[in-house]
Amino acid sequence: MGHEFSLTSIPDLNGRYDIYGAVHKGLRKAGCDLLGRLGTADSHDAQETALLIGDLRNYLMLAASHVSHEDENIHVELAAKGVSTVKVDEQHDDHRTAFGELEELIVAWERAWPSHKPACGRKLYLAFAAYMADDLAHMHEEETMTAPLLWRNFTDNEILGIEMSIIASLPPEMSMAFMRMMIPAINPVERATLLGAMKKDAPPDIFQAVIDFAVRPSLSASDFTQLADALKLAA
Ligand SMILES: [Fe+2]
Repeated sequence: MGHEFSLTSIPDLNGRYDIYGAVHKGLRKAGCDLLGRLGTADSHDAQETALLIGDLRNYLMLAASHVSHEDENIHVELAAKGVSTVKVDEQHDDHRTAFGELEELIVAWERAWPSHKPACGRKLYLAFAAYMADDLAHMHEEETMTAPLLWRNFTDNEILGIEMSIIASLPPEMSMAFMRMMIPAINPVERATLLGAMKKDAPPDIFQAVIDFAVRPSLSASDFTQLADALKLAA
């Protein structure tokens, strides 16, 4: 598949609502971290590979869920305005094919005889790298081509409404998993903005659960302190 990038035509946000930014940063960081771990994994270390496979399956589950959220919310809304999303729809179909193929390679690695494990690990590493290459290109397409279509056809409040309908559709454990992926991947101002809005709008026990189970465990002590200061959290 060919991806033609024009790096000089990347649009500015110009203050517009960025529906893709945080979740795509999360997917990029978590995917690149996993690719690194697949590269360094010792196929004969059962504990390391079991942990890695668990994290990889969790990542692919979140990535598949993310693709459906975009289909069912963003693409549906654009289609209702008569805007074609055929290119990103096709890329999502390619992703769904890749998810199935990656799961087959994970199972093959899990079940391989010890002498075959390194070869199976190498196949999975290469396949995941190719998937990441496609996904990086795909997310670039969405943030440079699809986002401006949203800005042209919807107000910021309407785009926020699309995001809220995605969030409302998520079971709590899924919201928590997305937060754990996004928080360490975004910058301090973005963290303070995202969590500041949640502190203002969410029930206090929900906000506290997000801090305890998604935010604190995913940040370094100094990043957490900086965020806690920005949010004026009680020590
Ligand atoms: Fe997408």
